[in-house]
Amino acid sequence: MYNHYLYTHVNNILQNSDLDISNRDNEFYTRFLANLSTIHELYSALYEHHPNGKDAFLQVIHTIIHAYKNRPEVLRLKDREKAQSEYWFLSNQIAGMSLYVDRFCGKLVNLPEKLPYFQRLGVNFLHLMPIFQSPVGESDGGYAVSNFREVDERFGTLEDLHQLIKIMHEDNMHIMLDIVLNHTSHHHEWAIKAKQGDPYYQDFFYMFDDRTLPDQFDQTMPEIFPEAASGNFTYISDCNKWVMTVFHNYQWDLNYANPLVFNTMLDTIFFYANLGVDILRIDAPAFIWKQLGTTCQNLPQAHTILRLIKQCVQVATSGMALLGEAIVAPKEIIKYFGTEHFTAHECDVAYNATQMALQWDALATGDTRVMLAAQKDIVTKPYGTTWITYTRCHDDIGLGYEDSTIAEAGFQPYHHRKFLKDYYSGTYDSSPAKGALFSVNPKTQDARISGSLASLCGLEKAVENKSQEDIKLSIHKILMMQACSFFCGGIPMLFYGDELGYTNDYSYMNEEGKSYDNRWMHRPIINWEKNKRIDVRSSIEGQIFEGTRKLLEIRKKLPFVADLKNLTWLNPHNVHVAGYLRAYEDKRMYGIFNFSSQTAYLTWYAFKEHGLIPDKLFDHWQEKDYQVGYDHDYLILAPYQFCLLEVK
Ligand code: GLC
Repeated sequence: MYNHYLYTHVNNILQNSDLDISNRDNEFYTRFLANLSTIHELYSALYEHHPNGKDAFLQVIHTIIHAYKNRPEVLRLKDREKAQSEYWFLSNQIAGMSLYVDRFCGKLVNLPEKLPYFQRLGVNFLHLMPIFQSPVGESDGGYAVSNFREVDERFGTLEDLHQLIKIMHEDNMHIMLDIVLNHTSHHHEWAIKAKQGDPYYQDFFYMFDDRTLPDQFDQTMPEIFPEAASGNFTYISDCNKWVMTVFHNYQWDLNYANPLVFNTMLDTIFFYANLGVDILRIDAPAFIWKQLGTTCQNLPQAHTILRLIKQCVQVATSGMALLGEAIVAPKEIIKYFGTEHFTAHECDVAYNATQMALQWDALATGDTRVMLAAQKDIVTKPYGTTWITYTRCHDDIGLGYEDSTIAEAGFQPYHHRKFLKDYYSGTYDSSPAKGALFSVNPKTQDARISGSLASLCGLEKAVENKSQEDIKLSIHKILMMQACSFFCGGIPMLFYGDELGYTNDYSYMNEEGKSYDNRWMHRPIINWEKNKRIDVRSSIEGQIFEGTRKLLEIRKKLPFVADLKNLTWLNPHNVHVAGYLRAYEDKRMYGIFNFSSQTAYLTWYAFKEHGLIPDKLFDHWQEKDYQVGYDHDYLILAPYQFCLLEVK
């Protein structure tokens, strides 16, 4: 509804600013007025009843104007270009890698010399793991930030980051950085002041005088790191208070019920936007709103905050897309793309954590039924949004899909999960995988899985056993896992080291500040001497690198594998084989994946149930033609074989 007072007021502010609203800055002005009432509604939904609510809203108006004014001209130009291609992030031309700068190449200044490496692989989008200040030993891999605007000296300087982004943009590359929205390090200035007793900053966190409320919260809040940090609160002796710490005890949860927290973090978001970030990874958004009597995850207000951020970013720094790192149940993940009026107006991107975990499920069991049963939620993702598709990242693999999905596929959920945990932690006798259980909850026996792509696919054991046969098989598995995720719609995101098969690194066990967290086993330190082996085509590194490179190259050749909401899963005809169709206009491609260690037979009938019946198929992977046979004849797939079959 038109709010006369609001529009007059903001219009006055804009008219009296030094913006050239009728010419140069007209697009900004238009966007602002177009989004203003939504911004106001969202803000009011959160803060209408807060004593500072009105003033805080005015502050937001000024923050947005300030962000736009500070936007460098080159980024404004890019904003315009991106707006023209509308959903630039759906493109099949983007392929990413996530890496720790220090473990990959030491410092930010060394990264530009690695750009040819990315080019050779086909990667043009980098996610730099957190590089802002974070205390050594209490950093959670950089996710405990003590200063949101200063690069940690371990990685270099803010100027180095500016330079890197400039070079990357000149090379047509994209960059993603994190905003750790949910919490700060206990060494952050706000936390230090709160410890000293400053009530203004104590209100930035959830602080309590005694255990009464923490005990009530704990009754319904699950624990995230039950082994390393049990409970959700930490006692702070300096001020004799309890503070909410959902993750580690050194990560203090920010209190978004205080509008000043929102405003300050919005300003930080704009700071990152104006560095030139193309996609902002919003860390752990599921947790940002807390309410007594709930799990304090996925609450409606968390979505309101994300929608508000989206609206503000769209006005001031429109070229920056938002990724919501919501690693939650399948039905919840999808909501981060927005619902109802806000469908496709919340996060632009999210991790397809469900698909990722389900591929590991299928690989262990050799059975694709659970993976297929879960697709009905995944495919509801709205047009105009996209996934990060991946097999591994810096985190553990959570088996977060519902028990009902497992049951629907015909398995007993408890035993099924137990098998997966045993299989990947290596306790299951004949398992080729080598990983570990992460964050076992002694109360519920819940656990997640750590381990590198290669080790979980059996390469580590195969090399230890000097079994050429098993090495070959593990390489097939690695590439099949990557292929299945690269082509199922979304931006493929490699985890550094996986492109050439780094196995687990156990050195973290002897490092203070890391030994309690086995996720470090799959965060390798790159040895560039080893990496040279990619030049030897027959080496393990050479085969995996070449296979990965080829997959990305194929993906870039096929415009219809862009995320056009054009994925259909084939009806199952063989439980070991998963298949999907990517179709757009007159172009069609079948991705077929044998998840089992046995030869599998897929009836040609499977190719004839979805629209046009193909006659000839070309497998981009093997570079080989197939003639589609009779309904009762078969496509024969070797163990872990996959095909990328384009209809001719
Ligand atoms: C995210 C990060 C994870 C971190 C957590 C707390 O899930 O990916 O590494 O531990 O947030 O910040």
